[in-house]
Amino acid sequence: MRHAMLAATLAASVAIPATLANATDLEVTHWWTSGGEAAAVAELAKAFDATGHKWIDGAIAGGGNTARPVMISRITGGDPMGATQFNHGRQTEELIEAGLMRDLTDIAEAEGWKDIVRPSSLLDSCTVDGRIYCAPINIHSWEWLWLSNKAFEDAGVEVPTNWDEFVAAAPKLEEAGKIPLAMGGQPWQSGGAFRVMLSSLAGPDVYKKVYGDKDTDAAAGPEIARVFEAADNARKMSAGSNVQDWNQATNLVITGQAGGQIMGDWAQGEFQVAGQTAGEDYTCLPGLGVNAVMSTGGDAFYFPVLQDEEQKKAQGELAALLLKPETQLAFNLKKGSVPVRGDVDLEAANDCMKKGLDILAEGRTIPSGEQLMSQDSLNQINDLVVEFFNTPSMTAEDAHKRFVDIVASAD
Ligand code: GAL
Repeated sequence: MRHAMLAATLAASVAIPATLANATDLEVTHWWTSGGEAAAVAELAKAFDATGHKWIDGAIAGGGNTARPVMISRITGGDPMGATQFNHGRQTEELIEAGLMRDLTDIAEAEGWKDIVRPSSLLDSCTVDGRIYCAPINIHSWEWLWLSNKAFEDAGVEVPTNWDEFVAAAPKLEEAGKIPLAMGGQPWQSGGAFRVMLSSLAGPDVYKKVYGDKDTDAAAGPEIARVFEAADNARKMSAGSNVQDWNQATNLVITGQAGGQIMGDWAQGEFQVAGQTAGEDYTCLPGLGVNAVMSTGGDAFYFPVLQDEEQKKAQGELAALLLKPETQLAFNLKKGSVPVRGDVDLEAANDCMKKGLDILAEGRTIPSGEQLMSQDSLNQINDLVVEFFNTPSMTAEDAHKRFVDIVASAD
């Protein structure tokens, strides 16, 4: 009896709680460093920490084009993180083909992702040769024009309902000391805005022909010539921006110094952090108020292949956690994006997110640039557009010709 009691006492004293026993630190990299983005990623960290593991935050500033090379070099260089954000789509093709990224198919099947994730294109963007390599976490759409109600009130002009009214209001905005169109200096921003002008003004079908089929006849066509005329207006309207980061440009709109910004709906996170209300302080025009479509791009978490069993277990738990309804709600409301699952109660969604949800529900969606074109080809277009924005001597015709050449060799 005495031995049994002693053994039981000993066992109790050395027993370690399950969570502590397999509590694992997992380093997670991403490029979410603005106020809204940080608020959103904090929700993921909180949820992961609640499991007993520890989210070691690896935020990399400077936006995707700065962060992605760092992430890729760490994975290819033998210093992988536990998990990393990328845009879902073609950015990770080579890492997956090299066998450096974990196959999540077993987790996806156990969690029923195929039945949960909508539209299914999100999971398709994670799938290579029938195997699933990422956990999609949101739907972000580039196709938005964000307008400062105060800037237009100060200029004595009605808030525009479409791109042409916005362009027509530019002189009054300038007279009132406003920058008509806020634009950060990094190439991905003007390149993204150009893509939105193309999908909105030339229309979704032409967009898919150019970015999806790499159709040079479509790229050289009159609709795209009109898009470059719109881009010519945009570069004149954004000339006074003088900011680098996207959220600095968003802040120009939030503070009423600029009339508007073409930016993805992650901008909503900034309006929220600033305490601004959609429909009251700012107005959102999907598809520039011309062709209301949503691109179904966004973010996903990828998991490098690791050897440590505890790390691998923690990876699997994080992957499953990201798509749980409560995680989806907490993260996406802060991020300004739409959840990847349709069974999340979005009563708390604001007017702009509800516009996006309606467009999604009506199926008026287009693939994102990252889903259609390699990042290298997208970067070539981004570099052309930022050069066009910064080189007044370059005509719209010159830029259009160079655009066709890039499309001809794009993949
Ligand atoms: C996008 C990403 C968004 C957003 C944005 C600006 O590529 O999908 O989550 O944060 O970059 O950083």
